[in-house]
Amino acid sequence: MFSCLLLALTGWGMAWRLSRRISKPESPPPAARTRPVPHHPPQTHDPHQLAETIPGMALVLGAMGQVLACNRAAQTRHGDSLHALLRHPNARNSLHTALNAPLMPESDIPTACSTTISLDVPIQRTIRLSMRRLPGTVGRDSLVLTLLDDRSAIQAADRIRADFVAHASHELRTPLASLSGFIDLLRDGGDQTDPASRSLYLDIMHQQATRMQRLIDRLLYLSQLELKGHQRPREQLDIGELFATVLGEVMPRFRDSSRQLDMTHEDDLTVLADEDELVQVLLNLMENAIRYGTQPDRPLHVRLNARRSGLDDDLAAGDTGVLLSVADNGPGIAAHHLPRLTERFYRITDAPISDNTDTGQGTGLGLAIVRQILDRHGGRLRFVSTPGEGTTCLIWLPAAPPA
Ligand SMILES: Nc1ncnc2c1ncn2[C@@H]1O[C@H](COP(=O)(O)OP(=O)(O)O)[C@@H](O)[C@H]1O
Ligand SMILES: [Mg+2]
Repeated sequence: MFSCLLLALTGWGMAWRLSRRISKPESPPPAARTRPVPHHPPQTHDPHQLAETIPGMALVLGAMGQVLACNRAAQTRHGDSLHALLRHPNARNSLHTALNAPLMPESDIPTACSTTISLDVPIQRTIRLSMRRLPGTVGRDSLVLTLLDDRSAIQAADRIRADFVAHASHELRTPLASLSGFIDLLRDGGDQTDPASRSLYLDIMHQQATRMQRLIDRLLYLSQLELKGHQRPREQLDIGELFATVLGEVMPRFRDSSRQLDMTHEDDLTVLADEDELVQVLLNLMENAIRYGTQPDRPLHVRLNARRSGLDDDLAAGDTGVLLSVADNGPGIAAHHLPRLTERFYRITDAPISDNTDTGQGTGLGLAIVRQILDRHGGRLRFVSTPGEGTTCLIWLPAAPPA
């Protein structure tokens, strides 16, 4: 009996809905035809609950700018500087505008206002604040929902890109200016230029053109590396073979009795790597050891070593891997330069360039290339240096899984 009634009621409900659909074609309710439905923010009177419903970083401020609620994301990222942020004149102005903002056309939602604030302490950061008074709150009881958008990373990327373009064009313009100067000199002098001067000018022009070529080659190489930066190399590479290739390349530069090279490695060391790229890494480091490590009063001693990294290697404590090191007994590098060595175009201006003849002037891109390659290999890089005693570059690479 009860189930019959239920069936009858369900049937009646379906029939009623069906009949409405048939007899009345879909038409919006009269209110919606004249006025768009406003998108209200979550209606709640609890500022904490409101702030926590926002997926990004959010605060709820009172009419005096006091923080009534701060969600977890905002607390974690900016808890240390919230007050500095809200005391900033831009934030105060924005709050004032938000409190007095007119309603948006055809809705009862107050318009939003935004401002961008840069703080220097405790660290440099740029944050965009968007503020909107909550509908239905007025006067001293107003609540202002404030969203925070941390734009520091975007700003830093923009700055790095702009710096890069400025540096690259400056580095190219210097040899170019020298080249055009000598071309003018030769052209103006015509046949009057004596053969010795002409040959000197041509030598310098050749040097400058080579420098430009090297710079362009390195920039292109860097951008190619960037393109494949997200692909991890998959080839098994034996460290013994890697060292043999590098030795073949650098041997001619160690024929001089004032330079000594030692290469040692443990047996059966294998990494997953792109061979050409790792050869490039070691060549760049050896080139630096020769160029910056050579001193007039002391023979240069370069040591290249590879071993399994033990647990006490804090470069990669606990992980199994291979630790490569390139050490020289040159003048070393002052500690404050060490963290910046892999920045593009970073050069230590007072560093002695003792081996100008066979390596030419540096570009400041050698170690940037090394870092880029190691990032792609999941490797780590560190410099250790004692001024007056020498420099060691340590590279850790994850060991290849057993085949
Ligand atoms: N082994 C080293 N000993 C002393 N200084 C070094 C050594 N390796 C690198 N440097 C310093 O680091 C700077 C950056 O090196 P790098 O990126 O290879 O650029 P560059 O093209 O000038 O060699 C060099 O200009 C040099 O001043
Ligand atoms: Mg170099």
